[in-house]
Amino acid sequence: MSESPVLGDYFVIQALENGVQVMGLTRGPETKFHHTEKLDRGEVMVVQFTEHTSAMKIRGKALVYTKHGKVAVGGEDGR
Ligand code: TRP
Repeated sequence: MSESPVLGDYFVIQALENGVQVMGLTRGPETKFHHTEKLDRGEVMVVQFTEHTSAMKIRGKALVYTKHGKVAVGGEDGR
């Protein structure tokens, strides 16, 4: 698996409220949602881009930790 060019780094999503949604979108010619995971406040999901997942959409207040830094999602200042 580690030889696959599509596998990305892991990153961490920490929910800051109940009902945060992490949606995975398919890789390839058709970009569709294939999975929605709901996180409650304090829950953490460790995710990776894979041969099946090329993009993710995150809805709700959450912190996303990547190797590029921390991104706040859904905050009052639109971070
Ligand atoms: N079965 C999915 C895959 O292997 C699991 C997955 C990986 C996923 N990363 C994700 C689901 C991000 C939602 C969001 O690609």
